[in-house]
Amino acid sequence: MQEKKSIHGAWASRWIFILAATGSAVGLGNIWKFPYIAGENGGGAFVLVYLVCILMVGVPIMMAEVFIGRRGRQSPINAMKDVAIEANHSGKWSFVGWMGVLAGFMIFSFYSVVAGWVLYYIAGMGTGDFIAIGSDDAGKVFNDLLADPQTLLIWHTIFVAMVMVVIVGGVKKGLENAVKLLMPALFILLLIMLGYSMQTEGFSQGFDFLFHFDFSELSWNAVLIALGHSFFTLSLGMGAIMAYGSYMPKKTSIGGSVITIAAMDTIVALIAGLVIFPIVFANGMDPGAGPGLMFVTLPVAFGQMPGGQIFGFVFFLLVGIAAWTSAISLIEPAAAWLVEKFGWSRVPACIVLGLVVWGLGIAALGSFNFISDFKMMGFNVFDFLDFMTANVMLPLGGLFIAIFAGWFVTRKMAEDELAISSPLLFNAWYIALRYVSPVAVAVIFILNLVEKLK
Ligand code: TRP
Repeated sequence: MQEKKSIHGAWASRWIFILAATGSAVGLGNIWKFPYIAGENGGGAFVLVYLVCILMVGVPIMMAEVFIGRRGRQSPINAMKDVAIEANHSGKWSFVGWMGVLAGFMIFSFYSVVAGWVLYYIAGMGTGDFIAIGSDDAGKVFNDLLADPQTLLIWHTIFVAMVMVVIVGGVKKGLENAVKLLMPALFILLLIMLGYSMQTEGFSQGFDFLFHFDFSELSWNAVLIALGHSFFTLSLGMGAIMAYGSYMPKKTSIGGSVITIAAMDTIVALIAGLVIFPIVFANGMDPGAGPGLMFVTLPVAFGQMPGGQIFGFVFFLLVGIAAWTSAISLIEPAAAWLVEKFGWSRVPACIVLGLVVWGLGIAALGSFNFISDFKMMGFNVFDFLDFMTANVMLPLGGLFIAIFAGWFVTRKMAEDELAISSPLLFNAWYIALRYVSPVAVAVIFILNLVEKLK
C-alpha cells in the first residue's frame, strides 16, 4: 500500500513529535491539579496508584491513539473513519472524533480561564504584588480576581489569542516552532525551580509527603481520581494525541515514543510536587488546600521567602508555558478538520474556532461572578465543564478508542503500524489494550458517575 501523507505537513523528526506530545501532556494538569489532588488524597499512596494507572491504562491507549492517527493521516474525525473503513467496519466510528472535538472545546473553555489566572499572577509576581502578603490578603486577591469578570475576560482573551497565533501557523511554522522554543524553556524553568525548592527547609518533608506510601490513607475514591487524572494528564480520550500522531514520521517507533512521553509527563508532575510541597511546608502551611493551593497558598509562601518575587515569577511563567503548549492540542484536531472538510486555509479556521472557544470561555469565567447561581446537575458552568470532560467524555472516548483499536482494527494493521519486534511486548500491549484498559475505564467511569451523582 502506498503510504498516506497528511495534507497538514509532518513533524521534522521523531523528537519533535515527542516534544509536541509532551507539550500537550504537560500542562495545568501536572502543575495545578496533580499536586492538589495528591495533597488531598494523602500523598504517596495516591502517587503509586497514579503511576500504575499511567502504565497499565494510559500508555496502551496512547499507543492506540498514535497508531490510528498515523494510519489515518488526518484529523481524528476523518482518521477514525478511514481506519474503520480500512478494517471493513462502519465509517460511523468518526463519532469518536466528533465527541473529541466537542470535549476539546469544553476543556479549552475552562482551561483558558485558569490559564488567564496564571497570566494575571505572572504579571502580579513580576510587579511585586505578593511581597510579604498574608494568607487573608492572598485569599482576597484571588477572590477579587474571580469576582471581576472584566479582568478575567481580558486575560482569557489574551490566552485565546496566544493559542490561535500558534495554530494559525500550521504544523511546521506554528506548532513545531512553538514547541521547539517553549519545551526547552519549560524544562529549564522547572529545573531552576527544583534547585530553589531543594535548598528550602521543607524539602525533605515535601519529599516524604510525595513518596511515603501509607496505604491506610488511600480511599477507593482516590483510586478513581488517580485513574481519571491519568487520562487528563496524558491528553487522552479526545484525539489530541491522535492528531499529533497523524503528523508523525512513518519509520519511527510508536511504543518507544509513547513511553518517553508518558515518562516525561510523569517526571514533570513529580518534580512539580517536589517544587510545590517543600515551599508550602517550609512556610508551615498545609498542602491539602484544594485548587487554591497554587493561587493562594503558594503566593503567600513565595511572598515570605528570600528571592520569592523572582522565583514566584519564574514559577508562574513555567505554568503559563505549560498551559499554552497544552491548549494548542485541544484545538488542533478541530482546526485540521475544518481545513480538510472545507478546504479552508488556517486563517478562517482559526477565526471561527477562536470565536467559539472565546465565547464558551465567557460562560466558564462567569461561573465565578455573573452567572454563579446558574447550575447544571448541581455544578456551576466551570465545574460542569471540568466534570463532564474529565469524568465522562475523556474516559468514554478512551474506552471507545481502546475497543476500536483492540477489537475492530485488525491485528495485522496494528502489527504493521506499531512494528514491535518482540512478540512478547506486542502481546503485552494487546492484552492491556483489549482487556485491562477497557475494564478499568468502564469501572471508574461507572463508579465515578455513581459517586458524583449521588
Ligand atoms: N494534558 C493536559 C494537562 O495535563 C490537558 C490537556 C491538553 C488535555 N490536551 C488534552 C486533556 C486533551 C485531555 C485531552 O494539563
